[in-house]
Amino acid sequence: MSNKVLEKALNEQLNAEMYSSYLYLSMSAYFSDAGLSGFANWMRVQAQEELAHAMMFYDYIIERGGRVVLTQVEGPQTEWESPLAAVEDVLTHEKKVTSMINNLVDLAIEQKDHATNIFLQWFVSEQVEEEDSVNDVLNKLKLIGGEGNGMFIIDKDLALRVFTPPTQSSQNA
Ligand code: FEO
Repeated sequence: MSNKVLEKALNEQLNAEMYSSYLYLSMSAYFSDAGLSGFANWMRVQAQEELAHAMMFYDYIIERGGRVVLTQVEGPQTEWESPLAAVEDVLTHEKKVTSMINNLVDLAIEQKDHATNIFLQWFVSEQVEEEDSVNDVLNKLKLIGGEGNGMFIIDKDLALRVFTPPTQSSQNA
């Protein structure tokens, strides 16, 4: 990749997506331990999505003739006070990722790299969806106060989530 500033930033985002995957897998383990297999499934699918995002950055860097440089992935938090606290952390984290993607778009525009800007637009849309789907779970949890029969119903609902790999057409959408 001729633009080394962007190459470095894209590699940093690759690492951040790996960390997101690691964080959500850690949450999945927390929920499995708490006996909430539906929440565990939802987080596991979330982790798979993040790994797919990381691989999209991986492939894009190579496609542009750049060098992928993998660096240490930070160890994630392993315990949460409650299911509500964990889901709140997902939303906080996704908001942080949204601002990272927006900063990357700013950088691509500043560096006049239109191809990277187009590549990043998929992630701009994806972040809107991600924040919306976490908000949905969070609102349901708040509604039932995070306990009782409502938890059983939400858990059953979250058990239905399945991983769908991002397709070429959705990447270009
Ligand atoms: Fe890869 Fe949840 O953003």
